[in-house]
Amino acid sequence: MKVAFFSSEVFPFAKTGGLADVSGALPQALKKAGMEVKVFMPQYKDIKPAIQYDGYGLDKLGNNVEVVFIRNDAYYHRDYLYNTPEGDYADNLERFSFFCRQSLEILRNMDFCPDIFHLNDWQTSILPLYLRFSNNSYFSQSRTLLTIHNLAYQGYFPLNKFSRLLLPPEAKDTLSIYNQLNFLKSGIITATAVNTVSPSYAEEIKTQEYGCGLEKILQENAHKLFGIINAIDYQVWDPQHDKFIYFPYASDDEETKRKNKEALREEFGLEKNERMLIGMVARLTEQKGIDILSDALEKILKEHQVIILGTGEEKYHKILKSLYSHNQQNFSLHLKFDESLAHKIYAASDLFLIPSRFEPCGLSQMISFKYATIPLVHATGGLKDTVKNYDFKNGKGDGFVFEEYSSSALLEAIERACQLYKNKEEWHSLRRRVSQYNFSWSESARKYIELYKKIIAGI
Ligand code: GLC
Repeated sequence: MKVAFFSSEVFPFAKTGGLADVSGALPQALKKAGMEVKVFMPQYKDIKPAIQYDGYGLDKLGNNVEVVFIRNDAYYHRDYLYNTPEGDYADNLERFSFFCRQSLEILRNMDFCPDIFHLNDWQTSILPLYLRFSNNSYFSQSRTLLTIHNLAYQGYFPLNKFSRLLLPPEAKDTLSIYNQLNFLKSGIITATAVNTVSPSYAEEIKTQEYGCGLEKILQENAHKLFGIINAIDYQVWDPQHDKFIYFPYASDDEETKRKNKEALREEFGLEKNERMLIGMVARLTEQKGIDILSDALEKILKEHQVIILGTGEEKYHKILKSLYSHNQQNFSLHLKFDESLAHKIYAASDLFLIPSRFEPCGLSQMISFKYATIPLVHATGGLKDTVKNYDFKNGKGDGFVFEEYSSSALLEAIERACQLYKNKEEWHSLRRRVSQYNFSWSESARKYIELYKKIIAGI
């Protein structure tokens, strides 16, 4: 089976979030499972492909998957992928529709006709519309799968930009909603099938609370909507072979894990005490729960130690900085993006916070497991699917879960975690158990291949 995998970011070439991790790992797992795969992404500023042609470059992902970089320096040779701190680039419609059109052209030139176009998020979701209105029959047997990694990002633009898409007037209706052009909406309607990155999120997005205005469209297309949980790449996330952390350790090696905690405290001037070390690595936006966390943080810092890494909304930077100035022995704050520090935090923390308001899948909880760090999550989306609340009566569960999205529910869950933390034996036994979990891509890739086959068979 031939698969053309489309993504606007692919680790290690370009990354702003979880989409890049998935796009870097899933194609390799598909290839391992016997698929013929080519990955397509824009050639951003710092990307230097091994082979450079006129309009595109070629390189390899993990030695065996071909990546095609669509080149257009006017569009992609910029400091950021989608937006500057001042806001979105004004020509994102042109940038990503060009990416889709040009990729189709290159596929034809390479004579690679995919059975499946696997599209990811709004940046690539307009591709099925180009296929529908193409007057070339080359791709007439190809089918499309659109994976939604986050419904909150839809790619919407003013209606008067329609002509820039170089589509016939009949295409306008499919693209329009609420008096705007909406790439994701058109993708949901025109893709042969749609999936999200966890079964729970696939259900949630059909409701008004999580549907971000597209719930009706999703309900109408529920017959072709699926949920497949993500996985993580253990080549990247394995404490035993992690070159970023202070002391590599086998998941169940409590002693060496403790040394990582001490080393991190030392590096960032945190007091050495009996406190639980709570880590968080995330975009500091309300989606990630930074609103309820910043309300609760003062109380948390009275009893625990906290390290936060990430950037986001200025409003929260201010709140965090002010809390930091009063709590330097027990609070370490890093308002930036730093891959190597992220690894250190996973390794050093006792508890890892993921208080997201909504979370399509979430990868941090799976990474935490591998690093023998206990996740604490809001019961939503993929978090709900992967973390069951610890039950003190029978010792079952994988971490700590709170149901109501509020600071008090978050605080109460931290209290429960701390209660277990004080019982060293049980805490260690939970750590040991979760560190053995296996969220590897081979299983999720198998599910994607099953879905590809269903799509080809007509669902
Ligand atoms: C987005 C989602 C996150 C998901 C990731 C990869 O970043 O917010 O929940 O894990 O995509 O699919």
